[in-house]
Amino acid sequence: MKFYEEKDYDALSQRAANIIAAQIVTKPDCVLGLATGSSPVGTYKRLIEKYENGDLDFSQVKTANLDEYKGLTRDNDQSYYYFMHENLFDHVNICPENTNIPDGTKEDSETECAHYEEVIASLGGVDLQLLGLGHNGHIGFNEPACDFPQATHCVDLQESTIEANKRFFASADDVPRQAYTMGIGTIMRAKKILLVVSGEDKADIVAKAFFGPVTPEVPASILQFHPDVTIVGDKAAFSKIP
Ligand code: F6R
Repeated sequence: MKFYEEKDYDALSQRAANIIAAQIVTKPDCVLGLATGSSPVGTYKRLIEKYENGDLDFSQVKTANLDEYKGLTRDNDQSYYYFMHENLFDHVNICPENTNIPDGTKEDSETECAHYEEVIASLGGVDLQLLGLGHNGHIGFNEPACDFPQATHCVDLQESTIEANKRFFASADDVPRQAYTMGIGTIMRAKKILLVVSGEDKADIVAKAFFGPVTPEVPASILQFHPDVTIVGDKAAFSKIP
């Protein structure tokens, strides 16, 4: 695992955007696995700047998002579909048909999850997967559990995740209770992984996930077994690394 410690959120966003830009420049038709949440917002801003400056071309880039709430329509401003358009897709020259996000409006979880795995396979797999890190060690919506889930599946969100995400909704009651997410296996099959993390409130989980035992109780700990992981964090998030 490579760790890049940056002084603050801006610097880590710049670093992460540079790594993604390097991927696109090296392979213009690469497949990017993308994440939502607050951690990657600065990274997306920097990528948009690079596109606006003429330094980055998304015309052949394909994307596959990690997850989506089940039950939210795409025009709901809390859906990850909406988030991705607001924060990246609407601001760069990516072809909408090259972007993929699990469809939260699909009621039949099994069919939608199997379909999403087929989509990723048909793209030839993910070249670079961007991740954030949940306070409980979740990646995507893979919550602490007894096993590492293999493939895209439907999850019941844990109370701590509902609590953490309620800031985006009118109340905790409005946070959907289920989501579709790439499995740990899906994430681990990406050729490269880039995880962005910031803030003191993530310091404990950074130390636990990347310097503690590999266990499904801390889903991100499995990244210790991936051959190409880059973790970009600020000083605060790295402050408890042993
Ligand atoms: C987002 C996702 C989540 C977040 C995690 C951290 O697509 O899958 O795992 O990456 O909850 O969220 P933030 O960045 O808001 O702290």
